[in-house]
Amino acid sequence: MDLESLRADLEQLRERALERIAASTQPDQIEQLTVDLLGKKGELTLVLRGIGALPAEDRPRVGAIANQVRQAIEAALDERGRELRKGAVADRLRDEALDVTTPGRPIPRGAYHPIAQTLARIADVFGQFGFVVYESPEIEDDLTNFQMLNIPRDHPARDLWDTMYVDIPEHLLRTHTSPGQIRVMHAEKPPIRALLPGRCFRYEATDAAHASEFFQVEGLMVDEGTTMADLRGLLDQFAHALFGADKRTRFRPGYYPFTEPSVAFDVECLICGGRGCPACSHTGWMAILGAGMVHPVVLQYGGIDPERYQGFAFGMGAERITNLRHGVGDLRLYLENDLRFLEQFR
Ligand code: DAH
Repeated sequence: MDLESLRADLEQLRERALERIAASTQPDQIEQLTVDLLGKKGELTLVLRGIGALPAEDRPRVGAIANQVRQAIEAALDERGRELRKGAVADRLRDEALDVTTPGRPIPRGAYHPIAQTLARIADVFGQFGFVVYESPEIEDDLTNFQMLNIPRDHPARDLWDTMYVDIPEHLLRTHTSPGQIRVMHAEKPPIRALLPGRCFRYEATDAAHASEFFQVEGLMVDEGTTMADLRGLLDQFAHALFGADKRTRFRPGYYPFTEPSVAFDVECLICGGRGCPACSHTGWMAILGAGMVHPVVLQYGGIDPERYQGFAFGMGAERITNLRHGVGDLRLYLENDLRFLEQFR
């Protein structure tokens, strides 16, 4: 081994290394070449083994050449590596490009049905006065839907509450939530503060103001010393919470077989403020519910001693309340499931 042949080997190594570096196409090839060419067991190290066989004065010269070769290879690796990495980034940017101008896929947003919203609101208001929500069956018996509410078999009031029968004469689709009063009285001892929202049914020709299927909310309070004043105060709070604290209210005499006395509860017309308009039939008032002091006969059927306890009850149509809250004019909209209507209540 002499100086010249070692120099020639180094030159050749440089040539070939630079060719290989130039020919590489991937950043990881550069890493591999770095190891192969310059690593501890790399080609440069291999060639430099021959250095030991040279005379001492030649060694620094070979060392200098070897350094140049190393630097040249390093510089080439560095530059090509940088080029390839830049290319790789460009490739990824292209391959993984996200077209931010593509219109998004809308995620459909659901909502509670307006009647469900009203039921929740009503439960919320009465809940603040200690009223607890109960459930009661939609298929009732004649006894609970009628007789125990003081509506005997041949009572003319039954015309008001005609319905579909599951089997005649015993089981029917409940015509109101009032039978829930009886069921709560059987299940609980006074003091009772119950709220009974639920679906009701009637034999009815459908039009804007009549439906054979609708929702009511029943309220029942039974305690010692419960009076009409308690009822009035509670209903005032309710009307003010739903329709505005400035709204006037009134009791008007009414009739229901299961309450005595019975009243209709009105709120001042929400459209005209009481001056009179077509919406309130020029009375200035809108009826929102029926109510009264629970008839002693009904308390008795409920297993409660009317000498000791008094109670009041009220019942309202959830569709009517919803109409008033949102200015809806046709009951049928609530059952048609037309999204153009329902989406307005999100
Ligand atoms: N159940 C009656 C109806 O369907 C509404 C009602 C009136 C309920 C007076 C009551 C009440 O609890 O006291 O028309």
